[in-house]
Amino acid sequence: MIEKDLLELRIQSMGSSPLFYKEPVHLVKGEGIWLYDDSDNKYMDCYNNVPCVGHCHPHVIEALSKQAGQLNTHSRYLSKVVVDYSERLMSLHADPLSVLQMGCSGTEAIEIAIKMARLATGGKGIICSNATYHGNSHETIRMTIGPFEPDFKRVPFPEKFRPLKEGLAEKELCDLYLDEIKRAISEFSENNIPLAGMLFCSIFANEGLPEIPSGFMQKAAKLVRDAGGVVILDEVQAGFCRTGSWWGYEVNECVPDIVAMGKPMGSGYPLSGVGTSPEIAKIFHEKSYYFNTTASTPLQAAVGSAVLDVIEEEDLLGNVNSVGEYLKDKVKGFAKKYDMVGDVRGLGLFVAIECIEGQGNKNPNNKLAVEFVEKMKQKGFLISNAGQFRNVLKIRPPLVFEKDHADSLCEVLEETLEEVHN
Ligand SMILES: Cc1ncc(COP(=O)(O)O)c(C=O)c1O
Repeated sequence: MIEKDLLELRIQSMGSSPLFYKEPVHLVKGEGIWLYDDSDNKYMDCYNNVPCVGHCHPHVIEALSKQAGQLNTHSRYLSKVVVDYSERLMSLHADPLSVLQMGCSGTEAIEIAIKMARLATGGKGIICSNATYHGNSHETIRMTIGPFEPDFKRVPFPEKFRPLKEGLAEKELCDLYLDEIKRAISEFSENNIPLAGMLFCSIFANEGLPEIPSGFMQKAAKLVRDAGGVVILDEVQAGFCRTGSWWGYEVNECVPDIVAMGKPMGSGYPLSGVGTSPEIAKIFHEKSYYFNTTASTPLQAAVGSAVLDVIEEEDLLGNVNSVGEYLKDKVKGFAKKYDMVGDVRGLGLFVAIECIEGQGNKNPNNKLAVEFVEKMKQKGFLISNAGQFRNVLKIRPPLVFEKDHADSLCEVLEETLEEVHN
């Protein structure tokens, strides 16, 4: 039920900041994969990756309360809790990523990562994708809203469903996307903007989770490194087991020089981080004297550590792999009956359903995706739409999603496809 008064009060006190759904949901409680509204309606959360270990996980709440009751200070004191967490988190990364700088949001992590890249290389130019989202600060928004030039160059993100050119073999298509990277590098050079690096989401989540031509990420990274830049991969959505690997960069087999983490890192509490090599970290700290009062705190570390405990103790990585595959296969099974589903893709517990116009027409169908998301919500299932044209249904539940949940979701997805089909 929508409370008109609350909506009006919100607009008065918070302005028209974005809300989901035509009739926004007034949530009052969360537990596991379930959310409850003020009329005690129950919603299956098939969207939120932030509470990755499930809403209000008791172990996380306990760690948070315990640390809050003992000590929380700003970042410029010694703290064993903070050092232990940094070591533990970075031990989950590939070499040479071993040093952590914590932050409070994904945007901050990306800002830090860009600053690190620029300080480490002495360069300025950053290559990014043309349909990305990395945050909302003045600097990060320049990759999505602009002004785009001169120090951010947007290249077409790699994809196989709506490729830059139809009819090419995978390798040729990959080369075509790599040509775009080469072009960006040359243009920076022609404009006397030294290259700092490339920044991509490791799985192009906001672009719509495309299947990308094999080898693209490693080859693009090589081009950038050969030209003196570094590779930043954004794990704000992909990280913490979402894809069925700890990190999205494992999926595309490309270890970055700088990795940005966020969202699931604190399972809902403000915690983000940037991992890098000792060499880059040294330059960054010497040249920037970076600190953030509410980052690298004992409270953040206690929560972050509790999140890792749950992921490990409940074998959420194993769960993501088994339930993710099950869900994707099941969706693929029934979706092929409907010609307005152009493609079903997935990595771990992240499934993307591409809505198209159908009847032989691959054009994106944003209207259908929006209508679909609304209908699902009315039936008690929260999903969303994303991608370059916002025509991709995005299913990305907390990592504690089980096969039974996948069955219930699939039943309603199929029923809804049947409805919108007519
Ligand atoms: C890939 C990616 N990077 C960075 C961000 C920014 O994170 P935050 O909203 O925590 O600032 C987002 C947010 O949606 C994101 O999807």
